[in-house]
Amino acid sequence: MEYSKEFKIYSKEDTKTLAKRIAPHLQSGDVVALYGELGTGKTFFTQQLCSFLEVTENVSSPSYVLMNEYRGRFSICHLDLYRLDSYEEVLELGLHDIFEQNLTIIEWAEKAELLLPEKVINIHFEFADPYRLVKIESYKKLDIGKSLSE
Ligand SMILES: Nc1ncnc2c1ncn2[C@@H]1O[C@H](COP(=O)(O)OP(=O)(O)OP(=O)(O)O)[C@@H](O)[C@H]1O
Ligand SMILES: [Mg+2]
Repeated sequence: MEYSKEFKIYSKEDTKTLAKRIAPHLQSGDVVALYGELGTGKTFFTQQLCSFLEVTENVSSPSYVLMNEYRGRFSICHLDLYRLDSYEEVLELGLHDIFEQNLTIIEWAEKAELLLPEKVINIHFEFADPYRLVKIESYKKLDIGKSLSE
């Protein structure tokens, strides 16, 4: 991967800073794959990212509906694959077309790992008391800085 970096997130403000720094690098066609246990902050990060991409509508967790679409700087598709348990269900989503037409943000991306494009931005969230550890691996360089507090 072209870019790989870890950040410590101590607060919601840190998540917001991270989202603000990543947002300018994103474009339609990019796939942001989010990983991490329940409650590690994937949806909150997505909400912040969307707000920096000029989405004005409410961004909520699509865990029951699987997929939400928002209109911001470009069309954004927000997926949550937690409830899918078979590969067939994942195939039925038609991810290839979704990826082409949107900026796609996927929670529980491991459920679609085989279908993710090579050009992906992977973001892993992890509880590491007293902070959350965020590991980013991206196909393109992201200018985020060394730490979120600088
Ligand atoms: N950086 C943070 N600092 C403190 N609290 C946070 C942070 N990020 C998220 N939270 C809070 O943690 C809770 C869970 O966050 P969120 O819903 O974003 O997790 P999630 O990873 O999407 O979970 P799920 O796997 O259930 O979809 C929420 O109450 C959220 O406000
Ligand atoms: Mg969520």
